[in-house]
Amino acid sequence: MTLEELVERLVGEAVLTGATLSRPRSVDPASPKRLTLDPVAVRSGVRWRVRRHFHTRTTDELVDREALGELLREAIGGSYRQALLHEPAADWQVLAGKGEPRVLRRPPTRPDVSFAHDRRKQHRLPAGEPVPYLVALGVQTPDGQVRARRRDKFRQVNRFVELVDDVIPVLPPGALRVVDYGSGRAYLTFALYDLLTRVHGRSVELLGLDLKQDVVAECEALARQLDAEGLRFEVGDIADADLDGVDLVVSLHACDTATDVALERAVRAEATVILAVPCCQHELLGQLESDVLRPLIRHGTLRERFVAEVTDAARARLLELAGYDVQVVEFVALEHTPKNVLLRATRTARPARDRARLAAEYRTFADALAIRPALERLLADRIDV
Ligand SMILES: C[S@@+](CC[C@H](N)C(=O)[O-])C[C@H]1O[C@@H](n2cnc3c(N)ncnc32)[C@H](O)[C@@H]1O
Repeated sequence: MTLEELVERLVGEAVLTGATLSRPRSVDPASPKRLTLDPVAVRSGVRWRVRRHFHTRTTDELVDREALGELLREAIGGSYRQALLHEPAADWQVLAGKGEPRVLRRPPTRPDVSFAHDRRKQHRLPAGEPVPYLVALGVQTPDGQVRARRRDKFRQVNRFVELVDDVIPVLPPGALRVVDYGSGRAYLTFALYDLLTRVHGRSVELLGLDLKQDVVAECEALARQLDAEGLRFEVGDIADADLDGVDLVVSLHACDTATDVALERAVRAEATVILAVPCCQHELLGQLESDVLRPLIRHGTLRERFVAEVTDAARARLLELAGYDVQVVEFVALEHTPKNVLLRATRTARPARDRARLAAEYRTFADALAIRPALERLLADRIDV
């Protein structure tokens, strides 16, 4: 592949996820010794931040796609003799000596990119740098490469970190009490712990709770091996676990109504923030009825999908009625998993007038579909619908 073809591919198809240009031809200290390029989200779409690294300072400039293409064509081989360009499927090393630049394909080190703003990007897990818990859990190799088979997991962990990061300002000051219900193999539990302690410098008491004795023992051993002070794992059932004061409750992919039990526990404990990714929402499959929706719900596949959305919509509204602001956000893109909705709830004070309106809307919705979801029953003594 020629340099021109490479630029056409990466910029023309908008797959470039980052680049570094190095080994300048000029030794003039007034010239930048290195350029780094990163995508940045702006109101009107994606722009490119060109960071020029001078000897004693850096400068930033935002450019559009056209200017980015021009810059790469001119600077590689012109001012810089070496470049490393990333796309999700590959890295490209360009060596520009005397003749035609040589383009070499390398294994990818930046498999994904978020076009989020800079603050978030700093908190994302850097591909190519080993993170101890990701190495221990087999997501990364010891030198920090994401294992090919674990790319989806790496992407999921990254996305989770971003979504949690947004609610950290809402959490109270001081030592944080956190519970992860149904922590399983604990990829996301360790990610949460890492984000809160290492990135945000918070002191944390984080409990991962799960039914599976062997999995809990493995996670506990790993927490001790990593010296993760304040992180522990216990065997237990969500339904039995008493919460005595908690700031953040997490329940990720807990099956069917286990999610509702986790939400109920969190509401009763008056958690400041609740994060739930529901999974296999079967409960309402046998309940939902509607003459109007007959053409939709008579097909098993469509009925299942629709029921999953209805279950999460009901949960979101019931959490609002229980005193939370709720956002429903996409967790990871649908092509990676169908379990892609995150309910993000933050505690709020809501005027009685608003509560009455929300309750009336909920009643109309639930009656029209002939449903009485688990969370409604579990919180019957706390919310009036
Ligand atoms: C699909 S895994 C998800 C693991 C992890 N949260 C994640 O998202 O990667 C669901 C976990 O929930 C646990 N679980 C299901 N019902 C539970 C309950 N009632 N109490 C505690 N754990 C439960 C299961 O043992 C399993 O490990």
